[in-house]
Amino acid sequence: MQTIKIALLGFGTVGQGVFQILNEKKEEFRNFFGIDVEVVGVLIRDVEKLRPLPAHLFVTDRFEDIASIPDVDVVFEAIVGEEPAYSYLTYFLERGIHVITANKAMFAKHGLSLQKVAENYDATIGYEATTAGGVPIIKTLKNLLQVNEVENIAGILNGTSNFILSEMRTAKCTFEEALQNAQDFGYAEADPTDDVSGKDAFRKLMILSQLAFGRQPSWEDVEVRGIQTLTLRDIEEAEESGMRYRHVAEVNITGSGNLQAVVRPLLVGPSHPLYTVDGVDNAIVIDSEYLGKLTLIGPGAGRFPTGSAMVEDFVQVISSKPKVIIPQ
Ligand SMILES: NC(=O)c1ccc[n+]([C@@H]2O[C@H](COP(=O)([O-])OP(=O)(O)OC[C@H]3O[C@@H](n4cnc5c(N)ncnc54)[C@H](OP(=O)(O)O)[C@@H]3O)[C@@H](O)[C@H]2O)c1
Repeated sequence: MQTIKIALLGFGTVGQGVFQILNEKKEEFRNFFGIDVEVVGVLIRDVEKLRPLPAHLFVTDRFEDIASIPDVDVVFEAIVGEEPAYSYLTYFLERGIHVITANKAMFAKHGLSLQKVAENYDATIGYEATTAGGVPIIKTLKNLLQVNEVENIAGILNGTSNFILSEMRTAKCTFEEALQNAQDFGYAEADPTDDVSGKDAFRKLMILSQLAFGRQPSWEDVEVRGIQTLTLRDIEEAEESGMRYRHVAEVNITGSGNLQAVVRPLLVGPSHPLYTVDGVDNAIVIDSEYLGKLTLIGPGAGRFPTGSAMVEDFVQVISSKPKVIIPQ
């Protein structure tokens, strides 16, 4: 039976989710695809940290160690920030090794360039997990685009912001108290700046724009506002008039072919598809030529939703690429 060798870059929330799902699905991979899946190395930053990993597994903080493992087929990347992730993924793609990433900060900026490298070296880059976690927005858009032109995408793309707005409304608490609750529940990062300022949603919107329209608007032309300035009074006044604040990232194409994008708190009424989306969920409304309006709602982050999105990309790779494939 063919063995598919996997390297994991990063073993935090997402990396651990991927590792667990790959292990739990070993039998299915054998039965359905006729392959054995083996994690052959894990790259982390701090070798002193205690980790739930089998003792025999190779763990290192040196990229060169991972890069020199022979015959790696697929690399999962779940580290943080643009660099060194971009350089690492370029390295693997240039060797024809398939990569799957969850790293939105890196992919929003370098996704196009990585896709070109992948194409040149007959490799694949999966990025479902970069946007809206477990919500299958990338594969849905790819499917739609085979027939439809996309006209507008509007979504709640940051679960922490959505949780805070929901919490302020239902528990009648201030922004600061709601943020503290989000941190206590483990939804918000220790440094939640990118979440509440709209920066995280902006990056995901740029990834969606690239896919749906083949390009991104100039980043400096996009108005990006977070939820930090909304007060409890604002939320209550909205509620009194039958409306709710949602943090919405939106991109659309104008009649003259220009892209317009904005990220901001938006007041929506009961007939709006995002009105009922509460808690840490993400939701995306796609307007397209023939299908019309489609709304996807689901878990936008977390170990298993994000891990699942990455392993789904992996299944796509093993079932479509001759280099890692499976005798039928
Ligand atoms: N958490 C989510 O729900 C979620 C959802 C969608 C996308 N993402 C994206 O997925 C990526 C990982 O997120 P996470 O929540 O799993 O982060 P995390 O819990 O902080 O884990 C990051 C992991 O990457 C390792 N790492 C970081 N920088 C590194 C470097 N320069 N070289 C080697 N290893 C490095 C860390 O090593 P140590 O363990 O030694 O510190 C850690 O194992 C991020 O890009 C994030 O934006 C996360």
